Amino acid sequence: MPETIYLNGRLVPPEEALIPINDRGFLFGDAVYEVIRSYEGRLWALERHLSRLAQSLAAVDMGHVDTDEIGAAIRETYAASTIPDAVVYVHISRGVAPRSHAYSRDLQPTVLITVRDISPRVSRMASPGVAAIVEPDLRWRRCDIKSTCLLPNVLAHTRARNAGADEAILVHPDGYVTEGASTSVFWVRGGRLCTVPLGGEVLPGITRGFILEIAQDEGLPVVEERISLDEFRKADEMLLAGTTIEVCPIISLGGEPVGSGQAGPIALQLQKAFRARVQAADDAAR
Ligand code: PDD
Repeated sequence: MPETIYLNGRLVPPEEALIPINDRGFLFGDAVYEVIRSYEGRLWALERHLSRLAQSLAAVDMGHVDTDEIGAAIRETYAASTIPDAVVYVHISRGVAPRSHAYSRDLQPTVLITVRDISPRVSRMASPGVAAIVEPDLRWRRCDIKSTCLLPNVLAHTRARNAGADEAILVHPDGYVTEGASTSVFWVRGGRLCTVPLGGEVLPGITRGFILEIAQDEGLPVVEERISLDEFRKADEMLLAGTTIEVCPIISLGGEPVGSGQAGPIALQLQKAFRARVQAADDAAR
């Protein structure tokens, strides 16, 4: 199925989807983004994504962008796509101006939305568990902003791919695990579900939020804490969470089996509960 593209106020064919060379997103990575999923013709967790987008925009001094309008554009583009199971990419750059680090606040932001069929990616990820490697976290101190400056993530993820793995687990210079190159990370120790607390080191993942709500519903004890790589390696289970990967067990880390080397019971429980929530189209915050 072809990609549906919205650029600056209208749906455009691919040959008209062109960005000027002086777009600050292109020149500086001066842009923020969201990745949203749809299931069976329904956008999933759109309100949560719009509220995170508003936070990212405010954090980079682009709070003047109206996220209600962006939401309407996302709905319009998605409806035009007629793709039931899609990945929707939303990218807002500060706008176009001759290259200079300092920006002026009166620029017209560039708004790009694309809708693509996710089925090929889903079938690739539909495995009992994935392999991960460990990489240093080379990112800046505002990883809570969903910025398009993704070079460290891109390099780490590609190293994982080149090593035959699916994700890179990032380790902060101070020695603790932060998240995956494009996913949130959870682990299980002694029956407790653990994840990194929110802050500048991690993205406030939408799927992370769902998992914490599900854990509460299911009566699973949750701990938000930092963990050293050595302790992390001893976890009974490890899980990745993200919009496209959903909830996915890690079964090997750096070539070593995680726990039993098979998807663990808590990972499977959360995976099932997440899918049930999607099936029930229940994306309201608890
Ligand atoms: N990545 N951490 C990072 C660094 C991410 O890039 C992502 C998402 C997540 C998971 O967040 P969420 O549950 O809101 O998707 C965590 C998207 C999918 C991407 O960049 O393609």
